[in-house]
Amino acid sequence: MFPLTRLLVLYSTLLAAAPYVVVASPVSKAYHEFRRFVPTGWTPVRRAEPDIVLPLRVGLAQSNLHNIETYLLDVSHPDSPNYGNHWTASRVAETFRPSDETVDIVRSWLADSVDPQRISLSRGGGWLEVNMTVDEVERLLGTEYYVYEHGDSGAEHVACQGGYELPGHVSNHVDFITPTLQFDVGPRLKRSSKVRRRASMGSKTGSKSSPLIGKPVQNVQSGTLNCNEQLTLACLRILYDFNYVPLAANKNTVGVVEYSPDHYIASDMDLFFGNFSKSQVGERPTVVAIDGGVFPEYGDSYESNLDTQYMMGLVGPKQKVQLFQVGDAVEGVTFNNFLDAIDGSYCTFEGGDSDTDAVFPDHTAAIRVQRTVEPPRQPS
Ligand SMILES: *[C@@H]1O[C@H](CO)[C@@H](O)[C@H](O)[C@H]1NC(C)=O
Ligand SMILES: *[C@@H]1O[C@H](CO)[C@@H](O)[C@H](O)[C@H]1NC(C)=O
Repeated sequence: MFPLTRLLVLYSTLLAAAPYVVVASPVSKAYHEFRRFVPTGWTPVRRAEPDIVLPLRVGLAQSNLHNIETYLLDVSHPDSPNYGNHWTASRVAETFRPSDETVDIVRSWLADSVDPQRISLSRGGGWLEVNMTVDEVERLLGTEYYVYEHGDSGAEHVACQGGYELPGHVSNHVDFITPTLQFDVGPRLKRSSKVRRRASMGSKTGSKSSPLIGKPVQNVQSGTLNCNEQLTLACLRILYDFNYVPLAANKNTVGVVEYSPDHYIASDMDLFFGNFSKSQVGERPTVVAIDGGVFPEYGDSYESNLDTQYMMGLVGPKQKVQLFQVGDAVEGVTFNNFLDAIDGSYCTFEGGDSDTDAVFPDHTAAIRVQRTVEPPRQPS
């Protein structure tokens, strides 16, 4: 709190000496991130208790990100001399590791508010981590934290409202901070026994926003006559100039990822194919289960239906589509669970697995994948 006190002293001195002096705000702050809408299903129910401890993680701006397209094309363009020479994990880490300047600036900003001893740099060098109370974080980030409750499950989640601010000189060095606006990462609160019972029937604490659900369509069309109301496969093909004819369907794979308890419904798939891609009626994705990968009877199907139906419809009957179904009904999973499964080094390389994400196996039978799942290959 040292600089703040110093500034207050400075202010009062100036004001006493020359009351007409207008003092410009010494530290200009601006929203670093904000959101207009809370994800579907979540409602703020109370201010977060000021003494809750948040595992604050500051994602530091990475180096060389502006070169990423060049790096990618260098190894992936068939005409490039480096075609196929994929980078090692350590080269990736080294290239994108935040600079010392970035670490120093963000660390000293944090150290204005907390004892520097409490701040630690993650092993991979990408995050500064510090445990702070809600009260401390609210002052640091100029925001207010609320406890949000999920309508269906009663699950509770702590997030800040609206947005959060950073001083101008810090903002450039920070990608984002958790936990702030995210609804797919911890911390989760202890739930009441009543809530826990309901939650154990399939809460998805890591709920995301759902697709916009329109009115029922009266006359289903399969062509391009009404693309502003019915976005058919034919509409997408024309809009994106996408006419994919697989040349090596058995060498390539295409993948869709979904998070349980969201799941696709097989009979819906056939109604979709019956209308839009008749030769695919009866076709199903190849399921690759990760950390559970269940298809419970509850849970939404909008997003999973949408993703799988359109992906399968667009690539057509010759190309198999893999469905990476992640998580079970007990733990809310995040993208990290998926990334961990397709790239075993994602969690362990210089970082180590943390309990920020759901840990498997949990107390049900959900099994953590033992081996690394092969990620989808690029269609060629
Ligand atoms: C925050 O607190 C947790 C739980 O006590 C501890 O495991 C973790 O190491 C702490 N993190 C930091 C950065 O001090
Ligand atoms: C086309 O979709 C409608 C609406 O879901 C459905 O009632 C109908 O059975 C479908 N047609 C076919 C051939 O599957």
